[in-house]
Amino acid sequence: MSIYQATASAPVNIACIKYWGKRDTKLILPTNSSLSVTLDQDHLRSTTTSRADPSFTKDRLWLNGKEEEINEGGRLATCIREMKRLRREVEDKEPNAPKLSTFPVHISSRNNFPTAAGLASSASGFAALVKSLATLYQLPAHPSQLSLIARQGSGSACRSLFGGYVAWEMGSKPDGSDSLAVEVAPQSHWPDLHALICVVSDDKKGTSSTSGMQQTVETSALLQHRIKHVVPERMEAIKKAILAKDFDSFARITMKDSNQFHAVCLDTEPPIFYMNDVSRSIIALIVEYNRVSVANGGGYKAAYTYDAGPNAVIYAPKENLKEIISLIVKYFPQAENFKDPFQLFGTQGVGAG
Ligand code: PMV
Repeated sequence: MSIYQATASAPVNIACIKYWGKRDTKLILPTNSSLSVTLDQDHLRSTTTSRADPSFTKDRLWLNGKEEEINEGGRLATCIREMKRLRREVEDKEPNAPKLSTFPVHISSRNNFPTAAGLASSASGFAALVKSLATLYQLPAHPSQLSLIARQGSGSACRSLFGGYVAWEMGSKPDGSDSLAVEVAPQSHWPDLHALICVVSDDKKGTSSTSGMQQTVETSALLQHRIKHVVPERMEAIKKAILAKDFDSFARITMKDSNQFHAVCLDTEPPIFYMNDVSRSIIALIVEYNRVSVANGGGYKAAYTYDAGPNAVIYAPKENLKEIISLIVKYFPQAENFKDPFQLFGTQGVGAG
């Protein structure tokens, strides 16, 4: 008897223009477009194995070895259902293809980094799940098409289907069919840009992105300003900066957008704080580092960004990394031995998974 099983992995992506807010919570349609860089690091990935077997009694999923409930109508169930629907289209066209869409699936997924610590584990997780099912089902799907399904697992997951520089275009159709990820540039376009991830804390975050976004959409006036008057121009400006490999513009836009995202979180009722004192000290360090460089006639040397957690991601041209790491170790001596509460995760380049 044949064994139907496939394994795929997907990397984390870190947004420079943040997605924060849903206009449709069921389909996961965002209130603004966003743009991210997919990290190409061996230790920031989710790896997922899916197996279809007629002897299984139901769909089941294990995350890091622990079984998770697949709730009916929930996000996991939606992704699995949508992937089975695409498989059914293949089976309808090829009558001899095994009827995998009728078999229950068992899915096992592992992250090699802290789950839910503001390191976008849901992004790589849902992207790997969709990829592994696409491989299992032998779907001829383009990453943008798969992104439509990964989006319904976790919004930011749609961007992890591509390597390099990726936009999630918010779209305008009520059915979400144009809310998908597209490649802005492959990693090879600007391989000199590196990401340094500083794990300030690997505790689980206090407010999930789902409830944080809902609260923000309901109570923040600043979010409405951001959606209408800030993000559309910023998306265009950062795409231009990436295509021109203009680090000064890339850095300024990335830091401003991180700041506005956290300002929007503070503008909600009750306020949400994702950064802590160490996060803010890293911001001060990077601001000063850039100020000294500009005062000496140079350009920006690094850009910080923070997601829904206290961990810093620092984007910088490769040539500056040594200096940045020594600055961090100087001001945060705990970082030296890669120990808590401050670990350095590595400095590999960004890029395709
Ligand atoms: O996809 P979610 O629900 O985990 O939301 C992610 C939101 C941010 O990471 C804060 C921003 C982003 O665009 O990735």
